[in-house]
Amino acid sequence: MVPDLRAARSPPFGPRSRWPAETAGMTDPGAPYQVLPVSPAEWIQYRDIRLRALAEAPSAFGSSWELERVRPDAAWRERTVASPERQTWSARSSQAWVGLVAAVREEDDQLQLVSMWVDPIWRRRGVARGLIAAVVAWWRPDPGAGLHLWVSSDNVAALACYQAEGFRLTGVRLSLPSDPSRSRVEMRFSEPG
Ligand SMILES: CC(C)(COP(=O)(O)OP(=O)(O)OC[C@H]1O[C@@H](n2cnc3c(N)ncnc32)[C@H](O)[C@@H]1OP(=O)(O)O)[C@@H](O)C(=O)NCCC(=O)NCCS
Repeated sequence: MVPDLRAARSPPFGPRSRWPAETAGMTDPGAPYQVLPVSPAEWIQYRDIRLRALAEAPSAFGSSWELERVRPDAAWRERTVASPERQTWSARSSQAWVGLVAAVREEDDQLQLVSMWVDPIWRRRGVARGLIAAVVAWWRPDPGAGLHLWVSSDNVAALACYQAEGFRLTGVRLSLPSDPSRSRVEMRFSEPG
């Protein structure tokens, strides 16, 4: 029987509260990190970093902390199962997970980069660059499929990051489903050169 670890391991914070340093990767922000695929055995770490992301940057995502915190364990575990339709990676320091990204295959077969988040203490250290590189390497054998993403048009850091890492604006702009007064723009990866 799989023990219910939620009471012991759930993040002890809400969307506007602060989380303890040891769970937020704040203890050694200068240390090296690795980008690795997330495995089903790591679904609790995945759940915790995803909820941290939604709490820390609520306007950056289509989903919300309130919606996802009630997901059942099986649904979290399922999201970590790698398949041709979905793959998730995390950036890990020696002490904590410090970044997250995923790629999902859409009905027309193209890949969408989603769920990008880096712990604030770890930003501007190349973590997102490493996460994007993992997604691009996964996508590259099938370039005909296309790799794209959506980003809020007011998310200056993410726009600059995606631009720096090879994504270009497609000119497509839609309103945000969660807040129709704001818009999201599409970016598509194009190989350098
Ligand atoms: C956007 C985000 C993922 C960037 O992560 P990061 O690890 O800090 O990015 P990197 O250090 O890998 O930056 C790579 C390049 O992107 C650009 N960049 C990243 N953040 C930037 C910023 N705040 N301002 C300007 N350029 C930026 C730079 O060119 C940078 O290279 P450099 O530092 O050598 O100049 C991070 O700010 C974040 O998690 N934001 C909140 C969540 C979010 O907005 N997610 C995107 C959802 S679509």
